[in-house]
Amino acid sequence: MAKESITLIDNRTGKSYEIAISYGIYPLDGAAIRASDLRQVKVSEDDFGLMSYDPAFMNTASCQSTITFIDGDKGILRYRGYPIEELAEKSTYLETAYLVLYGELPTKAQLEKWTHDITWHTMIHENIKKFMDGFHYDAHPMGMLVSTVAALSTFYLDAKHIFDAGSRKTQTHRLVGKMPTLAAFAYRHSLGRPYAYPDNDLSYTGNFLNMLFKMTEVKYKPNAILEKALDVLFILHADHEQNCGTNAMRCVGSSQADPYCAVAAAAAALYGPLHGGANEAVLRMLGEIGSKGKVPEFVKKVKAGEGKLMGFGHRVYKNYDPRAKIIKRVADEVFEVTGRNPLLDIAIELERIALEDEYFIKRKLYPNVDFYSGIIYQAMGFPVEMFPVLFAIPRTSGWIAQWEELLLDAEQKISRPRQVYLGQDTRSYVGIEQRETGKTGQTSPKGVA
Ligand code: SDX
Repeated sequence: MAKESITLIDNRTGKSYEIAISYGIYPLDGAAIRASDLRQVKVSEDDFGLMSYDPAFMNTASCQSTITFIDGDKGILRYRGYPIEELAEKSTYLETAYLVLYGELPTKAQLEKWTHDITWHTMIHENIKKFMDGFHYDAHPMGMLVSTVAALSTFYLDAKHIFDAGSRKTQTHRLVGKMPTLAAFAYRHSLGRPYAYPDNDLSYTGNFLNMLFKMTEVKYKPNAILEKALDVLFILHADHEQNCGTNAMRCVGSSQADPYCAVAAAAAALYGPLHGGANEAVLRMLGEIGSKGKVPEFVKKVKAGEGKLMGFGHRVYKNYDPRAKIIKRVADEVFEVTGRNPLLDIAIELERIALEDEYFIKRKLYPNVDFYSGIIYQAMGFPVEMFPVLFAIPRTSGWIAQWEELLLDAEQKISRPRQVYLGQDTRSYVGIEQRETGKTGQTSPKGVA
C-alpha cells in the first residue's frame, strides 16, 4: 500500500488494516479516508463492520466539490478559485451566479444571454398570487417563500426531468429569476400593498428593489448606491460549500426530487436561527441590548450560558468571516444614503468587547456573515423578517450548483446515513391489561463513549 495511507490495528483482534488516504487540491486541507473502508474492520464474519459516528457531521466530508473553497483558519472564501474580495469589488451578482453554476466567468456574450434568460423568467404564474393572498398579513415571509417555491414544482412538471441538461438549465433560469419576485410579493402582501410586477429594464437587484418599493410612480428608479450595495451582499451570499441549507438541498436532491422541492428544503433549513435566520436574530438581540452601555451586561449573560451572541461563531471559520469584513465596508456606503443605523454602534461595541474577551477568544468566535448584514438591511428599509429571505435569494444559485454537482457525481446516490442503535432489545407485546405505569422493563442504554 502506498505511504498515503494509515494503518489501523484493531486491538480486539490484533488485525491490522491499511486504509488509503485521498486528498483535495491542498495537501493540508481535505485529506480523507473513505468511511466505507472501515467496514472491513470486523471481529467476526457476521460483524457488520466498523462505522464512523459523527453527529452533525463535525468531521465528515459528504462529497467532493469544485465549487467553493473555505479556509476557516485563514478566513479564506473563494468561488471557483476567485477570492470573494475580488468578486465583491469587481463582479456582479448575476455574473458571480454564472461562475458558481458553470465554473467559469462568462464571456460578454454569455453574460448577455444569461442576463436575458434570467430576466425572461422574473414573472410568476398569476395563480401564485392566490395562495400568497391566503397567508395572514403577518405571515413570516420565509414561510411564504419556502411554500411558494415548493409550489412552483406544480407549475413546471418538466422539472422532474432532472437528468436532462436542458430542463435543468430552464429550471435554473426560473428559480434564479423568480426567487426575487416571490420574495417581493411576500413582502408586499405583508404590507397590504398591491404586487409590483418585474421591470425587465432594471438590473437584478434594481428590479428586486422595484418590486419591493415601487408605489404610484410610473417607473421606479432604484437608488444606484443601494442597488450596488445589495448586489454586493448577494455576491457574498451566493454559496458557502456544505452548510446546513446546502446539505438539505443535496439530501433532497439525492432522492431525485425536483429542484423546486429541493430549494424549498434548503430554504427551510436556512430559516433556522442558527443558520440564515441569524441575521434576523442579530437585529432582535441588538434591539434588546438597547444601548452601548448595556453591552457588558449582555456579554456577561452570554458567558453565563444565558443565550448566544447571534451573528458570532461559525462551524468552519475560526477566524474573521471574510464576508463580514466586506459587509462592514458596504455598511458605510449604505449609511451615506440612508443615514447611520444607531444599532451599528452597539454592534461595533459588542464586537470590540467580544474580541478582547477570553471566553470568545478561546472558542474562536468571530463575527460571521450575519452579524452586520441585518444592520444594513434595516437601514435600507427592510423589516427584520425579510432578512433570511434576502439570504435565500442569492443562495439559490449556490444551492442549484451544488444540486447539479451531486446529480452529475457518479459516486453519489440517495443519502441514507446509518445509525448506532441504543434502543430496546427484542421484547414481546404486552396487553393493555398487563401494562402498569412505571414498569417499562427498559434497559439502560449504553451510549457511544
Ligand atoms: C451561517 O455553515 C455555513 O457556512 C453557514 C453560513 C453560510 O453562508 O451558509 O456561513 C451562514 O449560518 C452563519 C452562522 C449564523 N449563526 C449564528 O450566528 C448563530 C450563533 N452562532 C452559533 O449558534 C454557532 O456559532 C454556530 C451554529 C454558527 C456554529 O456552531 P458549532 O460549530 O456547532 O459550534 P458549537 O455550538 O459547538 O459552539 C462551540 C462553543 C460552545 O461553547 P462550549 O459548549 O464549548 O462551552 O462555542 C460556543 C458554544 O456554546 N458558542 C457560542 C456561540 N457560538 C458558539 N457562544 C456564544 N455565542 C455564540 N454565537
